[in-house]
Amino acid sequence: PPRTDGTPTAELGVIGGSGLYALLDEVTEVHVDTPYGPPSDSLFIGEVAGRRVAFLPRHGRGHRLPPHRINYRANLWALHSLGVRQVLGPCAVGGLRAEYGPGTLLVPDQFVDRTSGRVQTYYDGVTLPDGSVPEVVHVSMADPYCPDGRNAALGAARSLAWEPVDGGTLVVIEGPRFSTRAESRWFTANGWSVVGMTGHPEAVLARELGLCYTSLALVTDLDAGVETGEGVTHAEVLEVFARNVDRLRTVLFKALESLPATRDCLCSHVLDGLETGLPGV
Ligand code: ADE
Repeated sequence: PPRTDGTPTAELGVIGGSGLYALLDEVTEVHVDTPYGPPSDSLFIGEVAGRRVAFLPRHGRGHRLPPHRINYRANLWALHSLGVRQVLGPCAVGGLRAEYGPGTLLVPDQFVDRTSGRVQTYYDGVTLPDGSVPEVVHVSMADPYCPDGRNAALGAARSLAWEPVDGGTLVVIEGPRFSTRAESRWFTANGWSVVGMTGHPEAVLARELGLCYTSLALVTDLDAGVETGEGVTHAEVLEVFARNVDRLRTVLFKALESLPATRDCLCSHVLDGLETGLPGV
């Protein structure tokens, strides 16, 4: 249940990626602590179309945290603890096919984990500070993204005449370096669509808390195996993201508006009948 200690609550959440450090103008800033330590930043709660939305800058304001240093568990836990049940996760990605150039919006339906050493579960048998003991839980990840959230994102982009790519595989690398040309060509040869650094374990941890999670992948560059130039730079990623951030924000608003008010998707049932051992989950 959402908190009853007077902390503002929200039902919807957005985790903003590189270049998206604020979403709403009128917000209440909330500091949330979690059993896993602090999230990337404060959470900022406001309203979109009468629905309460919590925004969290994934890398922290001012982009302090590289992808491999983000406390993904704390981030998803913090959103869940405010009452958030549906999360949109925009992120910057590289295109792995020439037709997915900068400015392409892709709503993936699969991911591949090429990260290493990231903590990707709440169900790790470690007793929490309040004495709670997580059970052993294995969630299904066959379809990692919320079908309703994906439809909301796709519909929102189409309504702005920003024709999105419906489906595709996001390969998530450990970073913070970009891929070699050989790695990049291998990703493409495997049929994968875009490459990023933050999509995992975000989607997994959301699923473990029974949250709906939708990835919105904004292509900022063609990855090293596709383009013929010098390779990707961080400056290029930020510059292209900045050019697209206004329409991305509009897509997010529209998608938030059209997320279903009551959930009946696979994500909402994943913990049905299970004892999780996690407080509030
Ligand atoms: N984020 C944006 N562009 C990227 C790329 N080419 N590889 C990995 N992550 C990215």
